[in-house]
Amino acid sequence: MKVTVVGSGAVGASCAEYIAMKNFAAEVVLVDIKEGFAEGKAMDLMQTASLNGFDTKITGTTGDYSKTAGSKVAVITSGIPRKPGMTREELIGINAGIVKEVAENLVKHSPNIILVVVSNPMDTMAYLVHKISGLPKERIIGMGGALDSARFKYRLAEALNCPISDVDGMVIAAHSDTGMVPLISQATRNGIPVSEFLSEEQQNYVVEETKVGGATLTKLLGTSAWYAPGAAVSVMVQSILCDWKKMIPCSLLLNGEYGQSDICLGVPAIIGKNGVEKIVEVPLTAAEKEKFATAAAAVREVNGDLK
Ligand code: 2OP
Repeated sequence: MKVTVVGSGAVGASCAEYIAMKNFAAEVVLVDIKEGFAEGKAMDLMQTASLNGFDTKITGTTGDYSKTAGSKVAVITSGIPRKPGMTREELIGINAGIVKEVAENLVKHSPNIILVVVSNPMDTMAYLVHKISGLPKERIIGMGGALDSARFKYRLAEALNCPISDVDGMVIAAHSDTGMVPLISQATRNGIPVSEFLSEEQQNYVVEETKVGGATLTKLLGTSAWYAPGAAVSVMVQSILCDWKKMIPCSLLLNGEYGQSDICLGVPAIIGKNGVEKIVEVPLTAAEKEKFATAAAAVREVNGDLK
């Protein structure tokens, strides 16, 4: 099956590379507006095929969306990334127009497409795509929780001084420095609650470092991260194309779940060939419920800037 990645910058190219290397897609089409850039990235990636052992065909196009026709999934990474000190929300003025045009072009050439939204502020961009694309809500999936949960597991393993494969944990709510809710109460090390191993202070450190995981990297790199965002997207796209039905926290349009409606927020969901198969309501502590509601209020305010 065909996957399109719009935006051939660091995040988009990483998405394409990880999707190709996992060898589950027939074709990946990279799109960019900068003349020759997507074509160059595609050619460079294709020249790794014999080295990295994949048969996926990667092509590039400068803004010709007819080349994306028939895509099962498209990943929207286009727009500007944040600079050190910026919040994701500050990008809305520029990125909203870009994301709207990209989504409209994608749907025009692939009416049954599933869109994975990465561009920031992601929860609001996902909400925008719901409003303008005409797609059923189960076919619009915001990528935030998959990335934030990976950062959560990284911090948990660091604090526990154990292999990452021993830990599990999930982040829900907003993909923002203040609105993320790492579910520390449900995080485990080999199935055992991490509270058996970590003090309250250590748990709080893990939660706070997770929340600013993106900003920490932006400070170090001078721009947004790209490896982990790209890898997180590849896991979501693989669950769709292979119909794996993985449960992944994604930014989805809520209709009463978790006490919220008409808003996109990160919640656990079963992701399969039709996109979102089911939103899973997990039990939250009173504190987690309150943080979720606070995050929702902040996202709703940013959504108001769309008007
Ligand atoms: C991040 O957190 C780009 O929002 C993305 O790195």
